[in-house]
Amino acid sequence: MQGAVYKKTKRMTNEKKRMNTYMTQEQVAPYAKSLGIELTNLSPIQRNKYCAIGKGILRDGTPCIIKDYGKSDPKLAQLEADSLSFYDNISTTVDGLKSCGLLAHNPEENLLAISFMSGESFTRYVYKSIFSNTRKTIALHHAETIGTLLRELYLRGPASTEKELGDFMREYLQHSTDRLRNIPILGKLCLGKNEPSVQTLLSGATESGERPSFCHGDCVPRNAHSDDSGIGLIDWANTSEQSHILNDIYNLLTALQNMIIPPTYKNQIIQALSDGLGDLAFDIRLHRFFYEYHRRRWLMLKLYARRPWPLAQALRGLATFAKPFSPHHLGALKRHIKP
Ligand SMILES: Nc1ncnc2c1ncn2[C@@H]1O[C@H](COP(=O)(O)OP(=O)(O)O)[C@@H](O)[C@H]1O
Ligand SMILES: [Mg+2]
Repeated sequence: MQGAVYKKTKRMTNEKKRMNTYMTQEQVAPYAKSLGIELTNLSPIQRNKYCAIGKGILRDGTPCIIKDYGKSDPKLAQLEADSLSFYDNISTTVDGLKSCGLLAHNPEENLLAISFMSGESFTRYVYKSIFSNTRKTIALHHAETIGTLLRELYLRGPASTEKELGDFMREYLQHSTDRLRNIPILGKLCLGKNEPSVQTLLSGATESGERPSFCHGDCVPRNAHSDDSGIGLIDWANTSEQSHILNDIYNLLTALQNMIIPPTYKNQIIQALSDGLGDLAFDIRLHRFFYEYHRRRWLMLKLYARRPWPLAQALRGLATFAKPFSPHHLGALKRHIKP
């Protein structure tokens, strides 16, 4: 049974017919049995490096999400299950935050059933709100709700036992930095002569004395589902206790900065996010680390996509928001630097 969604998705992606075909009852039944839920339909959405994702329908008509981790490390599905339960607890305490709970988990079969979060990506919601003041007001509330959620994740997330950020953070920053340096001409625009080395950034983060903290790990507007009634975060597969909430904040900031919306509106969104974060404040060296981590990662991904649109985005970024770290590029988020 394992991999049925996986194979189906692969074939359908090739045929560009995603979501059009439902799996047969014989294919759906084993998922229902393994998860102990009354699943009547299952249609593939997509797959990533670790799992196949499908949309299921329960007998009472409620939609749900099925993730089939197949032969991937069962720790990954366990991590997503634990993080979802943690998020679902928080969602009951934050106004306007959509819930997203774990419906079932079969560790032996490496399967998860997750409740479906309605709504569209926050990116779409924001673009559609540009010409409606009512929707703009709601979008600003949503940005504040996400800020409040991040604050809660920081304050209530499992405490890290380590004093330093996880190796993954250093390795990925090194990877992005090396790849940027290898790009002729443009590489020099991304990383000037006086750019701090990865070692300098990391020692700064460590010397700051700030402890690592829990983070969502993929906090981008496309993982935020929103409608007029609220907003919530999906995709809890990349959480870490050895990172920091600034990881989520700068991931979100970079994605928001990349959006083409009126600057005043963008600044209002960033201000609302900051309002939600409340009085959280961290050492400037930790800000520098995560700002550079996301700036370099974003530029590297855009430039290595080798397509005109991402290249145009990278050039626009370099001319505007993706400049080397300086507190005045942070706009409203500057107040989250410890004095
Ligand atoms: N809980 C959910 N509710 C609604 N849609 C979901 C949910 N989880 C996943 N999806 C849909 O599946 C897509 C991929 O799932 P996601 O968990 O974000 O995996 P990936 O890591 O591949 O981005 C999402 O963009 C969304 O369309
Ligand atoms: Mg996602």
